Amino acid sequence: MSILEKLQKIKAEAEESIYLQKTLHDLHQEKAKYLGKKGVMADFMKMMKDATPEERKELGKMSNDIKKAISSYIDEQKQIIEELEINAKLASETIDVTLPGKEVKRGSIHILTQVIEEIEDLFLGMGYTVEEGPEIENDEYNFEKLNLPKDHPARDMQDTFYITEESLLRTHTSPVQVRTMLRAEGKPIKIICPGKVYRRDDDDATHSHQFMQIEGLVIDKITTLSDLKGTLQEVARKMFGSDREIRLRPSYFPFTEPSVEVDVTCSNCDGKGCSMCKGTGWIEILGAGMVHRNVLEACGYNSEEYQGFAFGMGVERIAMLKHGIDDIRHFYTNDIRFLKQFK
Ligand code: DAH
Repeated sequence: MSILEKLQKIKAEAEESIYLQKTLHDLHQEKAKYLGKKGVMADFMKMMKDATPEERKELGKMSNDIKKAISSYIDEQKQIIEELEINAKLASETIDVTLPGKEVKRGSIHILTQVIEEIEDLFLGMGYTVEEGPEIENDEYNFEKLNLPKDHPARDMQDTFYITEESLLRTHTSPVQVRTMLRAEGKPIKIICPGKVYRRDDDDATHSHQFMQIEGLVIDKITTLSDLKGTLQEVARKMFGSDREIRLRPSYFPFTEPSVEVDVTCSNCDGKGCSMCKGTGWIEILGAGMVHRNVLEACGYNSEEYQGFAFGMGVERIAMLKHGIDDIRHFYTNDIRFLKQFK
């Protein structure tokens, strides 16, 4: 076989095998086989070292042509393979619109927020506005102006987290009464205020170092205890059912006089007496009273002219009674199984 024939044979073989390659990797191997340093064409060039200069010139030109041809086969096949790969990828990525979709899990509004919103709705309907106050409060508003001076024994029940001597995490939402009165500068007031409060308490099924309250305050020239009773009757009916009754029991809060504790007829036994209401037929839901004249005066109101009522309720307690929840810690531990029951 002449050298020329050999070259033609190499070219034909290369053409055939290159166009058979299906992957870029295999194609690369083919390229190395024919054009690499130790490839077929390199071997061939070595064979020419004995040829005359004339022959070498001739053969050099021919082998260059063949290398170019092989290169172009490779380039062409490379394009073909790349196109095939793209098409395969596209085919594998097509979206089957008939497949059933994946369900997107939707959360729900936290049960405490739901209870607050229900109560807000009720009061907005009665012409109240909703106020807010800071959770870091000063001693003056949390205690002093609410008729709880520094050495008052009732402070013991509301020990809290102190940031400095004078600033603390508020123990109730009642300081918002003070803030609102100071801002209203002697004018009538009708507000509620939901928010977080803090106590130094050991957490258990019914106690939490942080919980929520809703405060209410009405101040006007004629505001009576029977207005308070009528208002709270509405709260009880809205939250526990339209047939609920309430009763007021005398109590003591430094910022109200007289002070009352408010009970609602037990919804578990309808007032007959059961384990939930400890046999009394009544369940305590909040504290309230007529705003103490010291508080009115401390906050810029003439207590001869103005009077008012106030109340404060625990949101968790209301939610627990309404939904039969037995442990206050459920509200804060974010167990999805608990939360999703209140969609
Ligand atoms: N601040 C009281 C507490 O946390 C609750 C309370 C009682 C609020 C009577 C009031 C009120 O506004 O009049 O125990």
